Parts: sequence; C-alpha cells; structure tokens
Amino acid sequence: MALLQWSDRYATGIPAIDEEHQHLFQAVNELHAGLAAGHAKEQIGKTLDFLVDYTLQHFKAEEAYMAQNAFVGLKAHQFEHILLVEEVRLFQKQFHQDPTKVRPIEVARFLGEWLTHHIMNMDMQYATFLRNKPRG
Ligand SMILES: [Fe+2]
Repeated sequence: MALLQWSDRYATGIPAIDEEHQHLFQAVNELHAGLAAGHAKEQIGKTLDFLVDYTLQHFKAEEAYMAQNAFVGLKAHQFEHILLVEEVRLFQKQFHQDPTKVRPIEVARFLGEWLTHHIMNMDMQYATFLRNKPRG
C-alpha cells in the first residue's frame, strides 16, 4: 500500500498548488515503494534526487505565489521550508557518500509526515488568506 494517500483534506483549493502537492505525494510514494521493493542504490539515489529537486522547485513556486499576494505569513512559512530543505539535503549528501550509514525508509516516512503536517497547517493558512482576500 502506498505510504501517502491523497484526500480532499489536503486540498488547498488552489489548483496549481494541489497538483504539485499530489506530485510530491507520488514522489515520496515512489521512494518508499522503491525501498520496499529493494531497489538498487543508484535507483533510490535518482528517486531521492528527483524528490529533492522537485521539493525545491515547489517551495520556490509557493513562496513566489505568497509574495505576489502579499501574504503576511511568508517569512515564517519560508523558514519552515528552509529547515526542511537543509535536513533533506544533508540526508541526500550522506546517502550518496555512504548509503550504508543512512536509512532512506526513515526519510520517506519523515517526508511523508512532514508534508502532510505542513500542508494541513502552513499551506492551509495562505490558502485561507487567499480565499478571503478581496479581489481587486
Ligand atoms: Fe509550504
């Protein structure tokens, strides 16, 4: 069974963001499934690299979107993104240096938990803000 299941409770109501979040779910699931199936280090490494790149790309898009809409919570949100990126990059580096020293399955689980928690708490804040913002 997939680690993450998309459901309406994760929907921000912003189609572009929801689509990217669904891709992130998929990428975390692929990493998790690859590990469960015992894929080779190279393959796991590629999935991991994709996940890190895609996360960075998504965070940038989200931050640009918040900035464009003058969302007051941008700085705090950005800070959560920075912390996650640092953590995942460190893991990525360790994995490429010596995969025996790290446990990718824990990273998949950690990312899954981080992602769902972040969407439900942080992303919903700007989604609510944007929904209530008067349109000019
Ligand atoms: Fe976010």
